[in-house]
Amino acid sequence: MASTTYSTSFTPDSALDLLFSPDLISQEVKNAMHPDVHIRPLASTDYRRGHLRVLSVLTASPDPGEAAWVSHFQTLRALSRTYYTLVVVDKRSDQIVGVGTVFLERKFQRGISCVGHIEDIAVDSQQQGKKLGLRIIQALTYISENSGAYKTILNCSDKNIPFYEKCGFAKKENEMARYT
Ligand code: ACO
Repeated sequence: MASTTYSTSFTPDSALDLLFSPDLISQEVKNAMHPDVHIRPLASTDYRRGHLRVLSVLTASPDPGEAAWVSHFQTLRALSRTYYTLVVVDKRSDQIVGVGTVFLERKFQRGISCVGHIEDIAVDSQQQGKKLGLRIIQALTYISENSGAYKTILNCSDKNIPFYEKCGFAKKENEMARYT
């Protein structure tokens, strides 16, 4: 079968400065992605690929400017083996269409274990319903479980409960919040 050529230059992982090794992403999930999209770790140049535009689907994500964005990226990367942010890139535009993070909370309990917290899942409104959200959750859960997490948890609105149930999660306990 002939390979597809893309009019804009899709940037391969090897040409990017990544948050963590792409080898940590499940091969099964990579194989399940539509050929027009690619799942990879966040890169230091993703400010220019619409990272904040996609996050704004979820909540207010005002633009801090590229320098502050890159500085924050470096802060997350310096926290070794803690922050794992994934993006899904549309190969035809080299723009981000989906994002998600798992961060690992280290515990003394359960034999010095950890908990994976899934955060900030967002799929571009034009790309929802194409299983991108499901693939992001599968990839994040795989990272969490392979890092030794005894559980992977998240908070969500009632509206999104059916989505997370389809991703294999079940409702447990309550969330408490105090905003400043
Ligand atoms: N209600 C019921 N079912 C749903 C919903 C929903 N709100 N959303 C998705 N599903 C179902 C799909 O129909 C699909 O079911 P199927 O396997 O039977 O076909 C399955 O869940 C997987 O859906 P995806 O296509 O992978 O979902 P999508 O790519 O659209 O991503 C997401 C879902 C992330 C919730 C997306 O709609 C989105 O970005 N919403 C706005 C931002 C948001 O709410 N993010 C989650 C915040 S919670 C957090 O970050 C921890």
